[in-house]
Order: sequence, then structure tokens, then C-alpha cells
Amino acid sequence: MDKEVNILGIAGSLRKDSYNRALLRAANELVQKEAGLEIFDLEGIPSFNQDLEENIPERVREFKQKIRASDAILIATPEYNYSVPGVLKNAIDWASRPPGDNAFAGKPVAVMSVYTGMLGGARAQYHLRQIFVATDMRPLNRPEVFVASASQKFDANGRLTDEITKKFVAQLLEALVAVAKKHKTESGSVIF
Ligand SMILES: Cc1cc2nc3c(=O)[nH]c(=O)nc-3n(C[C@H](O)[C@H](O)[C@H](O)COP(=O)(O)O)c2cc1C
Repeated sequence: MDKEVNILGIAGSLRKDSYNRALLRAANELVQKEAGLEIFDLEGIPSFNQDLEENIPERVREFKQKIRASDAILIATPEYNYSVPGVLKNAIDWASRPPGDNAFAGKPVAVMSVYTGMLGGARAQYHLRQIFVATDMRPLNRPEVFVASASQKFDANGRLTDEITKKFVAQLLEALVAVAKKHKTESGSVIF
């Protein structure tokens, strides 16, 4: 993470061929030169247990360090049963704790969703936006990126092929980088 704006990408799916992780990889190719995107895989983050907060698991420590070192967060998530997948909510719960040590506080954040059907993603995104209030993040309102009918937008190797989706992702990245730059200037430091 050594660019002017360093973005941490988080996928809300552990699936090997996850479309949402594939969308983050596509974002990595579309991000402006002055910015970099690193994807953090949520694999290995254990179930949240408040008893472990005094001595947090190593993978959680690593996650919190990556969040703190970043200037902005980009989440790509599917919708599970009309809401945020448990694996993502679990990771957010870890990173937000204990009180006074919320790694997300003040971070600019943007969201995208890919789903296999025609309708989906919106409910997960709006539930996430509610969580951003609790975690005191700075969500980007627009553009909203919802990618329907995933199998028609990616090739067999998981590469994003749909030009309209690429355009929306590029716009979202541009807006996120602009907000992150402004935020860095205003806060003078990225330590929260
Ligand atoms: C447990 C589960 C619940 C799901 N619920 C929804 C849902 O509520 N709305 C929706 O649009 N898709 C739903 N889906 C389908 C996902 O959008 C689809 O599997 C998507 O490709 C998962 O993202 P991924 O490719 O990044 O793993 C669900 C899938 C699973 C496994």
C-alpha cells in the first residue's frame, strides 16, 4: 500500500469462483494510476466471540491493520437471504471492536454487488449502509453499482467483460478516490 490513495477491497463471499471477488479484481484493473487496490480475503476470520476481544485472533489483527493502513474501503458483496452475508457481517463486527478501537471509524467506503438473478443486491447494500452508521464510516452515495445476471457479465475465467459495468465501476472508483483524497487533506492524517 504505497499509492497516494490506498483502497482495501473486501468481498462478502468466500466462494472460490465468487463473482463479487471477480468484480474487485476488475476494479483493480480500472482504478486510477494514483490509487492502488489490495484485496483482503475474509477466509480464516473466526466467528466473533466477545471473550476473545482481549487477545484477538491473528487473522483479525491483520485485518484491522490493513483497514487502518488504507485510505478507503471498497466492499463487493452478494445478498444472502435479503441481507448481508454472515461472513462479511462477522468480519465487520470484529474490526469494529472493542469500543474505542473501531478500525473502520471515519473511513470512506463504497459498495458494489453482483448477483446471479435479475433482482438482488439492493437489500444487502442498504443493510450495509445501516451498519456504516454504527461503524461511523463515510459511505459514498453514488454511483450505486448493482450487477445483475452475473453469468452474462463475466467470462469463464472470471474476467468482467461487460463494458457498461466497467464504466460504472470506474465511476465509482473515481468518486471514492476523490472522497478519500479530500478526507486525507481535511484530517491531515489517516490515524483515527
Ligand atoms: C445462502 C444464499 C442466499 C442467497 N440469497 C440471495 C438473495 O437474497 N438475493 C439474491 O439476489 N441472491 C441471493 N443468493 C444468490 C447470490 O446472489 C449468488 O449466489 C451470488 O453469485 C453469490 O455471490 P458470489 O458469486 O460472489 O459468491 C443467495 C445465495 C446464497 C448461497
